[in-house]
Amino acid sequence: MFARSAARALKSQSRLFSSSAARQTKVAVLGAGGGIGQPLSLLLKCDPLVSSLSLYDIRGAPGVAADVSHIDSSGDVKGYAADQLDAALEGVKVVVIPAGVPRKPGMTRDDLFNTNASIVRDLATAVGRVSPEAHILVISNPVNSTVPIVAETLAKAGVFDPKRVFGVTSLDVVRATRFLAEVTGADPANTPVTVVGGHSGPTIVPLLSQSSYGKAITGESYEKIVHRIQYGGDEVVKAKDGAGSATLSMAYAGAKFTNSLLRGLTGEKGVVTPTFVKSPLFADQGIDFFSSNVELGPNGVEKIHEIGPLSPEEEKLLAACLPELKKNIQKGKSFVGA
Ligand code: NAI
Repeated sequence: MFARSAARALKSQSRLFSSSAARQTKVAVLGAGGGIGQPLSLLLKCDPLVSSLSLYDIRGAPGVAADVSHIDSSGDVKGYAADQLDAALEGVKVVVIPAGVPRKPGMTRDDLFNTNASIVRDLATAVGRVSPEAHILVISNPVNSTVPIVAETLAKAGVFDPKRVFGVTSLDVVRATRFLAEVTGADPANTPVTVVGGHSGPTIVPLLSQSSYGKAITGESYEKIVHRIQYGGDEVVKAKDGAGSATLSMAYAGAKFTNSLLRGLTGEKGVVTPTFVKSPLFADQGIDFFSSNVELGPNGVEKIHEIGPLSPEEEKLLAACLPELKKNIQKGKSFVGA
C-alpha cells in the first residue's frame, strides 16, 4: 500500500520537476514567509535544478529557511531578514515574487493594487540594482498590473529585458486542466489546456477548442467550465473565509513554472507554457503585455506563440478580455509614471 502511494508520489514529483540538464541555478523567493512563499520554498528545495535558494521576507524568512534547509536534497538554503534584501539578491539567476497581500472574500485582484504596487516596485528596484541579469517571476496580484510595474521600473533603471520578466499565470492553466479532467475523465497529465490573456476574471481566456477533450464541451457545460476557470480563485477565497486566497495550488503552479524556466535556461528544447510577458500579439491595440504560449530557452523568452484558431465563443471571451487588460496594464504603467 505504502509502496504504491510512494511510487505515485514520486511519479507526480517527477512530473512537477523534470531535469534533463545538469547546470544548476540560484533562485530567490521574495515573500518567502507567506502563505504561498512557504510551500513554494519547500517545492523549490525539492527541485534538482535549484542549487541554491535565497529566502527573503520582511518577516519570518530565516525560520522558513532553517526548516526547509533540513530537507535531504542537494540545494543550499539561506534565509534573510527584512534589512537584508540586497544580500538575498546577490548572484541570483531567478527571482520569484509572491510578496504582498492576498484577497479576502468580496475583493477583486485589482483591490490589492494600492498595497501591492509599491511592494512590487520596490522589490523590482532592488533586483535591477543588485542582480539586473535575473529573470523575474511575478506572482503578486494584480498580475495584469504588477508585471508592467516591474517592467517599467527596470526600464527606468535602464536594465529591462523583455525576455526576462514573466507574470505567473500557471495557476489558471493548472485549474483549467484539472477542471476539464473532472468533467471529461481525461488524465490531466496528458490534456493541458492553453489559457491566454491575463490573470483576473474576464481577462482569463481558456482555449478549450484547442484541446481534443475541451472542444467536445458545449452549451451550458461550456459556460459553466469557462466561468469556473475564470473565477476558480474565488472558490478558494470563499472557502478560506477571510484567511487568504490560493496558496498551496499556487505554490505548486509557481514551482512548476519555475522548473519550466530553469529547464529552458539549461538548454532544454521545446519547453512551452503560457505566461504573461511583454508581447507583440496585441501591441497594435495598445496592449503590450499578454499571456500566450511562450517557448522558454537559454535567454528566457525564446519565442512568443500566436494564440491560434479560436471558436466563436472564444472570440467573444477575447473581445471581453482586451479592454479590461488594457486598463489594468495602463494602471500599472501610470503608477510608475510611464
Ligand atoms: P501572504 O500574506 O500569506 O504572504 C505575503 C508575504 O509577503 C508575507 O509573508 C509578507 O510578510 C510578505 N511581504 C510583504 N511585503 C513585503 C516586502 N516588501 N518584501 C518582502 N516580503 C513582503 O499572501 P499569499 O497568500 O502568500 O499571497 C501573496 C500574493 O500572491 C498576493 O498578492 C496574492 O494575491 C497573490 N496570488 C497570486 C496568484 C497567481 O495566480 N499569480 C494566485 C494566488 C495568490
